[in-house]
Amino acid sequence: MTIAPVPRVGIIVVAAGSGTRLGAGAPKGFVDLDGRSVLRHALDGVFAAPPAQVVVVAPAGREGDALRQAQEAAGDRSELVTVVAGGATRQASVAAGLAALRSGVEIVLVHDAARALTPPEVFERVIAAVASGSAGAVPVLPVVDTVKRVDGSRIIGAVDRSELAAAQTPQGFRRDVLEPAYGAATGEFTDDAALIADAGHAVTAVPGHPLAFKITTPADLDRARSLLSGQPAGAPAVRIGLGTDVHGFGGGGALWLAGLEWPGEPALAGHSDGDAVAHAIVDALLAAAGLGDIGTHFGTDHPEYAGAHADDFLARTLALLGDAGWRVGNVSVQVQANRPRFAGRRAEAEAALSAALGGAAVSVSATTTDGLGFTGRTEGVAAFAVALVTRA
Ligand code: CTP
Ligand code: MG
Repeated sequence: MTIAPVPRVGIIVVAAGSGTRLGAGAPKGFVDLDGRSVLRHALDGVFAAPPAQVVVVAPAGREGDALRQAQEAAGDRSELVTVVAGGATRQASVAAGLAALRSGVEIVLVHDAARALTPPEVFERVIAAVASGSAGAVPVLPVVDTVKRVDGSRIIGAVDRSELAAAQTPQGFRRDVLEPAYGAATGEFTDDAALIADAGHAVTAVPGHPLAFKITTPADLDRARSLLSGQPAGAPAVRIGLGTDVHGFGGGGALWLAGLEWPGEPALAGHSDGDAVAHAIVDALLAAAGLGDIGTHFGTDHPEYAGAHADDFLARTLALLGDAGWRVGNVSVQVQANRPRFAGRRAEAEAALSAALGGAAVSVSATTTDGLGFTGRTEGVAAFAVALVTRA
């Protein structure tokens, strides 16, 4: 048997977290995406990158499972795989990985298994930056949202986003910089680059990638699954979805329905503005794109949507679809209600909803139910939507 040369690069894949925010009933690395786990996808990316020693840091007790997955991903490079148990914090898990590096390794990448879909090119960029002399290199993406400084629920200022970037992994370092910095670290740092910067080293930014997003919440998991389900050749380029919603009268303030304010009409109750038409459309769009439902993305655990109107909901939904590679084809929604009377404002409602969806065609129809049921008794409003989405 020939002994393979020790690679110059070592990649530590940390997968020892518990995945509390995901709440999927298993450590995050072992949650299924498409028949393959989060960890397996991360390792597929790692093994598509230049040859490296790969140290997988697994939750204590799951080392065997992690080793099997790593060997499958490694193929004929399985002699480059080591699995160790992690610690109570990410930093402790990285330290456990560092201790398992072989002696020939000079460049160390630290990668979150939770960034399961990170393309190999990101590894290549990070390795190249460190190989050409940087003490450390971090993939970053520009911040696209407008950023505010807040104190509780009060906005206390704007932040200039041009000087901000979102940091991803893999983060790469010269081993002779990373090991002493870890050995000397006393506090807890949010990532490895912060620890290196604290030790006085300059860290270089290289372009990150949207697919290197971290799977943290159930919505992130939906996005990863949706991206993967779109991968196989022959996957449908058009999909439809159905959404319904009901709200009862009894809210405070003005009635908001179909993206319009209706002065003089009784308000609907709800966590947001109770706009059943907008919510049915959101559900239809998310269902069409396979991105879960309104509760996944806008539930009561998202206080920023308390009191929000249709344009906020629909703009966010459009962004979620865009991130997952879908475009809105058209939407048809029917309202069942005794009041308000839609006839005079149907076109206005269609225009408002269409504008909120980036110009996609929206048809609104309305009907009463002949005095039957809760809509017939004027207790509330029901809305039914179908949406068609196409591959962007
Ligand atoms: N990680 C680790 N050891 C820990 C904590 C985190 O190896 N003690 C890893 C995770 O497995 C993940 C990465 O660090 O790949 C980023 O952490 P995070 O997204 O916070 O994952 P979890 O800690 O698993 O999730 P949560 O914070 O929601 O519990
Ligand atoms: Mg964590």
